[in-house]
Amino acid sequence: MRGYNLGIVLKITIITFVVYLLVLIIPGLIFKYAVFPLFKKDIYFFFLGLLLLLADLWVLMLCAIIFPGVCWRMLNLRFSGVHPLDLSVRDVRNWVLTHMIYLPTAVVLDFFHFYPLKAIHVWLFGGRIGKNVVMGGLVLDPSKFEVGDDTVVGGFSTILGHAVERGNIIYGKVTIGKKCGVGIRSLILPGAKLNDGSMLGAQSLLAKNIEVPKNETYAGVPAKKISIHSHCPNENFKKTNGY
Ligand SMILES: CC(C)(COP(=O)(O)OP(=O)(O)OC[C@H]1O[C@@H](n2cnc3c(N)ncnc32)[C@H](O)[C@@H]1OP(=O)(O)O)[C@@H](O)C(=O)NCCC(=O)NCCS
Repeated sequence: MRGYNLGIVLKITIITFVVYLLVLIIPGLIFKYAVFPLFKKDIYFFFLGLLLLLADLWVLMLCAIIFPGVCWRMLNLRFSGVHPLDLSVRDVRNWVLTHMIYLPTAVVLDFFHFYPLKAIHVWLFGGRIGKNVVMGGLVLDPSKFEVGDDTVVGGFSTILGHAVERGNIIYGKVTIGKKCGVGIRSLILPGAKLNDGSMLGAQSLLAKNIEVPKNETYAGVPAKKISIHSHCPNENFKKTNGY
C-alpha cells in the first residue's frame, strides 16, 4: 500500500486498540470478580465457574458486536468511490479501520452460524439484512451490503464491497433482493446486484457491476444466465429420494 505514514498507522493502531479495550472491559470485570474466584474454591464451584465462564463468553460476544459498531458510527468511518490505494486518502483509511474493528467478530459469527447476531452486527456497520434471511458466508464490507427479506445466502460465500485493481481501490454496494438465493461458496464483487427472486448457482462468481434480472438464474465463473431445465425436483429425483 502506497503512502505509509507513521502518524496515520499509529492513529489506526491506537483507535483499534481502544475499541478492543472497550470490548474487553465488561467481560474482563465479570471474569475477575465472578468467574475466577469460583475456580479457586472446591470442585463444585469449579463447574459453576465453567458455566459462568460460558455466560461470560456470550457477554464478550455481545460486546464485540456492539462496541466496534457504535465506535464505527460515532467516528463515521464510511467510504466510497475509486481511490489510489493510499493510506493518506480518508476513504482508504476508513476502510482499513473498518476492517480492523469489524472482521474478527464477523469471522466468529460466521463460524458459529449466528444469523440474527450477524444481522445486528452488519446493521451497526451501516448495512442491512432483511427479515427471515439465512445469511451464510462472510460480508467483508457491511456498509456496502443490503439483502432483502426471505433470501438464502449459502455458506462459505464471500461478498465484497471493495476490489483492489491496478493500484486503485474501488468501493461499490452489493444488493441482493427479496426471495433470492445465493449458492454455496459463491463470490460476489462490488456493484453486483441480484434482483428479487433471482438465483446465483453454487460456486459462482458474480462479477463487478453485473445485474441479475428479476427471477433469472445465473451460474458459473463468471456467472452467466443458465437455462433452467426444471424448477422443482423431477419425477426421477422424487422416486430415488423418497418424495
Ligand atoms: C443454479 C441451480 C439453482 C440450477 O439448478 P436447476 O434449476 O435445477 O438447473 P439444472 O441443474 O437443470 O442446470 C441447468 C444448467 O445450468 C448448469 N449449472 C447448474 N448449476 C450450476 C453451477 N453452480 N455452476 C455452473 N453451471 C451450473 C447445469 O450444468 C445445466 O447446464 P446445461 O444446460 O448445459 O445442461 C443449482 O444448480 C445450484 O447451483 N443451486 C445452488 C444450491 C445452493 O448452494 N444453495 C445454498 C445453500 S443451501
